[in-house]
Amino acid sequence: MLFFLDTADIKTIEKLNNYGLVDGVTTNPSIIAKSGVDFKQTIQAICSIVKGPVSAEVMGDTFDEMIKEANELSKIAKNVCIKLPTTMEGLKACRYLTDHGVQTNLTLCFSVTQAIMVAKAGATFVSPFIGRWDDVSLNGLNIISDIKKVYQNYNVKTKILAASIRHNVHVLECAKIGADVVTIPPALLEKMSQHPLTTQGIEIFKNDWKLANSK
Ligand code: G3P
Repeated sequence: MLFFLDTADIKTIEKLNNYGLVDGVTTNPSIIAKSGVDFKQTIQAICSIVKGPVSAEVMGDTFDEMIKEANELSKIAKNVCIKLPTTMEGLKACRYLTDHGVQTNLTLCFSVTQAIMVAKAGATFVSPFIGRWDDVSLNGLNIISDIKKVYQNYNVKTKILAASIRHNVHVLECAKIGADVVTIPPALLEKMSQHPLTTQGIEIFKNDWKLANSK
């Protein structure tokens, strides 16, 4: 399973990339707005740090607007992955970009039928949002397992990029289901490496080592 970082914070991306744990990055307009830095400059900076796909989202509503933006964003770096909304216009833009060799990530996917259409449009990634389903009292993980099942039925090449990940169990369950990618908020990625028994075990080993060497 690939780990993407769900952030546009350059310092954090740089830091975590140095641990060899970052396979790609996803951004969205809210994340970019939070960073307070120019969109294209941010994408350029991320692409210079991370070798894997870096999702940059278009804001247009129509096919023409989306393609215009996608062409601009694609010029930034080879690893820019164009993030498109899962709408009829987004699907049309996806087919066009796929046919022109551009990586795509279809976002805001909330149903299996949408995911089937995303696959038919030839997308590189489909992004079902888990946490936002949970927010409205439905189990967002169900959509990941249903998409996985349907994609397996037809040997679909589109990769399942589980998004709106909020906690460890989301990551664990996505791994069990076989999601191809999880896009993780940076704080969660660090938290995932921690376990109280690991911390305690290190302390015990350190103390025992000190005792053994003080004799
Ligand atoms: O990148 C999109 C997605 O991960 C957003 O997550 O927490 O805003 O639902 P969230």
